[in-house]
Amino acid sequence: MPLFTSNSNMTTIGTDISHAIALLQQGKLVAIPTETVYGLAGNALDEATVSSIFEAKNRPTFDPLIIHIADWRHAARWVQAIPEKAEALAKAFLPGPLTLLLPKRPIIPDLVTAGSPFVAIRVPAHPMARKILEALDFPLAAPSANPFGYISPTTAEHVAQQLGEKIPYILDGGPCQIGLESTIVGFESEAPVVFRKGGIPIEAIEQIIGPVTVQEHSSSNPTAPGMLLSHYAPGTPLVLGNLKELALKHSGLKVGVLAFREPLPGLPPDRQIVLSAKGDFAEAAQHLFAGLRYLDGLDLDLIFAELLPEARLGRAINDRLRRAAAKR
Ligand code: TXA
Ligand code: MG
Repeated sequence: MPLFTSNSNMTTIGTDISHAIALLQQGKLVAIPTETVYGLAGNALDEATVSSIFEAKNRPTFDPLIIHIADWRHAARWVQAIPEKAEALAKAFLPGPLTLLLPKRPIIPDLVTAGSPFVAIRVPAHPMARKILEALDFPLAAPSANPFGYISPTTAEHVAQQLGEKIPYILDGGPCQIGLESTIVGFESEAPVVFRKGGIPIEAIEQIIGPVTVQEHSSSNPTAPGMLLSHYAPGTPLVLGNLKELALKHSGLKVGVLAFREPLPGLPPDRQIVLSAKGDFAEAAQHLFAGLRYLDGLDLDLIFAELLPEARLGRAINDRLRRAAAKR
């Protein structure tokens, strides 16, 4: 039974895994839960389906898609070579919020990788995603299920709000446990490079394979497309800084606050999101995107946000906040 039907009558939110599998086998798109964020999934081997993913998201085709598989042991079906360090990371973190960028086999359409000889491959940990992938004989291409450039969805309702008219079914797996996209690691002549900070902290990666290079991207250097500077952006302008100083500087405006541990005194609580009162990075990550969406829905002039300490998941959270604050 559908739990919720959107106004458009186009999409259904439900928990019917067999229905999701049947739609995917027919080449249709289904929004699926993963432990990081919800994905907009379709058959990665079918060009028409992959095209419809780009279209539904309004995503430029120069921004490649991650493929999702059920089991890392089958990775060699899709990639040509697996460096030792990639294998070590896979062993340590998969299934989980890590994506590996590896040389693709020809069976992966060029459309998926935007013409690159490398494919991004991930093994999600969410039990519903795993069940679906185990039932299919093709990998799923799945970008985050949001319109291009907007905040990633961490609940089924978030997906329905923005893509509801474009997809037949949204599988509801509850709120995402991690709340940040996967960490993307690639290799440049065997040397590991982090292309996107995400759900696996860099410190944890370095514990397994030693020092890594972190590639910081800007809008003028979109080599890992999707890491355009202005990304994960709410519609309401967002500024970063010390909350009390921001309040002094921008008095007279209708503002909201995204705080790490403590709210800004004097501002109504319903205009404030505290990411984690106990200062826990994982909890902060879980609440980040939903908090930004909530504030973005309040019709504010400005959102104030403060950065977290620059360590572990704080680095990935700060990366999203900086992009959200980037001028468009
Ligand atoms: O956690 C996640 O990774 C989520 C869930 C749904 O799995 N997916 C996700 O996909 O965040 P998306 O499309 O929103 O971001 C994928 C990013 C691209 O924007 C690009 O930066 C990078 O992954 N990427 C994918 N394939 C690539 C390739 N062949 N070469 C370089 N970068 C690639
Ligand atoms: Mg995305």
